[in-house]
Amino acid sequence: MYKISELAKCVGLSRTAILYYEKQQLLTAKRLSNGYRVYSDKDLQRVRLIQKLLAGGLTIKECKACLDAKINRQLLRDRLTTLKSEIQQKQQAHDLLLAILGDTPQQGWHEELNAIAPDAHLSWLINQGFSEKEALRLKWLSKDMNEHDIYMADFMTVFSGLSRWAPGSDEDTLKALSFIPSEPSTILDIGCGKGYATELLVKNTQAHVVAIDNEQPVLTTLSQRVKQQDFAHRLQTQCISMTELKFDTESIDLIWSEGSAYIMGVENALKQWKPFIAQHGALVFSDLVWKVDTPSRDTFKYWSKAYPDMQNVETRLAQIRTAGYKVTTHFGQSNRAWDNYYSPLQSRVSTLKKDMPNSAALRDIEEEVNICTQYANEFGYHMFILTKLTST
Ligand SMILES: C[S@@+](CC[C@H](N)C(=O)[O-])C[C@H]1O[C@@H](n2cnc3c(N)ncnc32)[C@H](O)[C@@H]1O
Repeated sequence: MYKISELAKCVGLSRTAILYYEKQQLLTAKRLSNGYRVYSDKDLQRVRLIQKLLAGGLTIKECKACLDAKINRQLLRDRLTTLKSEIQQKQQAHDLLLAILGDTPQQGWHEELNAIAPDAHLSWLINQGFSEKEALRLKWLSKDMNEHDIYMADFMTVFSGLSRWAPGSDEDTLKALSFIPSEPSTILDIGCGKGYATELLVKNTQAHVVAIDNEQPVLTTLSQRVKQQDFAHRLQTQCISMTELKFDTESIDLIWSEGSAYIMGVENALKQWKPFIAQHGALVFSDLVWKVDTPSRDTFKYWSKAYPDMQNVETRLAQIRTAGYKVTTHFGQSNRAWDNYYSPLQSRVSTLKKDMPNSAALRDIEEEVNICTQYANEFGYHMFILTKLTST
């Protein structure tokens, strides 16, 4: 026989918890002549069973029904479903901690987090001590906090040798420019990279052009390239983040963004850049879009991770209108624009493969090249030419 304190100790509960079970009629104590409660081995086992049932998610009332053999099978099945999902969540939390500690690869959960909570994911990375620039690169590129530096070094080894950092062509840039209704005096090229579009914008307008990127070396390349040209004085470069622009309200006639709005999210970019655009000013951006309703399994799987916010043209157009812009026109970029980017990238991957056999960056870039050369009919780059409708 056990006294209440002994029973409580055996099962790791408090005395109050035992009394509570008794009050709920899950347990009945015998009384000694002095009124003290005593419990049998059978009671001890009963308490252990109650603990298991409670841990399984049953309420006290349901436990009682179960112990009294009035088992509600449907109720137990429902509990089982809940339990399974809780176990799954715990397993994910367990995997997350392992990944953060660097004991397992992080790519999967970064991709998952980026897909379900992109802003929270970015804030979290910044809270871990990454600068905004590195957090954005981690989110889109390395997807690994422990291997980030080496990944980015390899990534830059591949890209520093390339002119274009996104699909694009001179013809498409000039075509988009031809749709701008009035001659701009000020242009802001956001995420200009090495600035092949920027150069065309300066050459083919009389505007003062500010080209921004958060990677100083590409801005230096651009400045060096144009410094002998007679339009060089109309070009200014700034190494700043597209998320932290500090221009006067309504001071820019035309914002240009080839292959860069996705970095902060197209809808975010539409919203955050709008205050800088002059009344009736314009915004041109290019973005990757689905060209088919039902993409093949491989492409869908790849882009769900690599660019979860990829949309079809109709959805982007609806988002653009909701954000307070009028669509002047839009067009799918040419095959040449695609090849201008992917052909040199493919050659670069082949050249570097033997020197960088274990590079995660090179592996990822090669995967993208393969998907983009095999399935180019399913998705592509699209140019959107907009004018600002409302100020807010
Ligand atoms: C896909 S590339 C496109 C470059 C260029 N527009 C082109 O078409 O070749 C994106 C560019 O955005 C820049 N970038 C990335 N994050 C940025 C940020 N937060 N602010 C400004 N530029 C950023 C990158 O350095 C890169 O040059």
